[in-house]
Amino acid sequence: MFMRKKLVAGNWKMFGSLQRNALLLDRIVAAGSGISCDVAVFVPFPYLGQVQGLLTGSSLVWGAQTLSEFAEGAYTGEVSAGMLRDFGCGLVLVGHSERRNLFGESDSVVAAKFAAAQAVGLVPVLCVGETLAEREAGATFEVVVRQLSAVVDRVGIAAMNKAVLAYEPVWAIGTGVTASPHQAQEVHAAVRAYLAGLDGVVAEEARILYGGSVKPGNAAELFAQPDIDGGLVGGAALVADDFLAICQAANR
Ligand code: PGA
Repeated sequence: MFMRKKLVAGNWKMFGSLQRNALLLDRIVAAGSGISCDVAVFVPFPYLGQVQGLLTGSSLVWGAQTLSEFAEGAYTGEVSAGMLRDFGCGLVLVGHSERRNLFGESDSVVAAKFAAAQAVGLVPVLCVGETLAEREAGATFEVVVRQLSAVVDRVGIAAMNKAVLAYEPVWAIGTGVTASPHQAQEVHAAVRAYLAGLDGVVAEEARILYGGSVKPGNAAELFAQPDIDGGLVGGAALVADDFLAICQAANR
């Protein structure tokens, strides 16, 4: 059986300062040798240079929380995939629910951003997930498959083996309410089944992270599920002890 290496990724959202970032990353890098999973951090754009300086030569990878769908041009305020490469990014978040819901990113914009990332060799971490109303209406799988297929239709299924997926139920993000391991596993299995319908190898190798109030106290149980390959961590990624404990939970 193919063994998928776990990945724990911290999404700092719009938090941080030069001083706080340095303190946090010093702790994480210092703990590096005890961590066997892959570890990534998604930081605000202005800190990419700082983070590149602090993490180059470490085992951590870093990236931004979004990017432009355009390669370059008169797009005031936007940041391109190529610019992220200049700062050593390996990954980039695409389609986080805060981007979709607060900044109006449609499925097709998300698909264009995914393609823009891959065009320069960045690994997109594609976030999908349903709102509470959608879950209560029994539309969870439909929503997640719609979000996924918008991307697959654009880039093709083979492109998914150069990407990471993240299932993040919107109702669990920053709320302290976590999907139960069973609820999360059910959606992760459905995502993998969708991929398997298109390409068995891609489905088996795809890493599908869970995100939404992952904490030291629930991480091990979530990561023990057969289709959960790590976590996308928001709030707990800003606290070194919590983030490191979540990484330890992925070591097993
Ligand atoms: P949370 O955020 O861990 O604070 O719920 C997760 C995310 O938004 O990626």
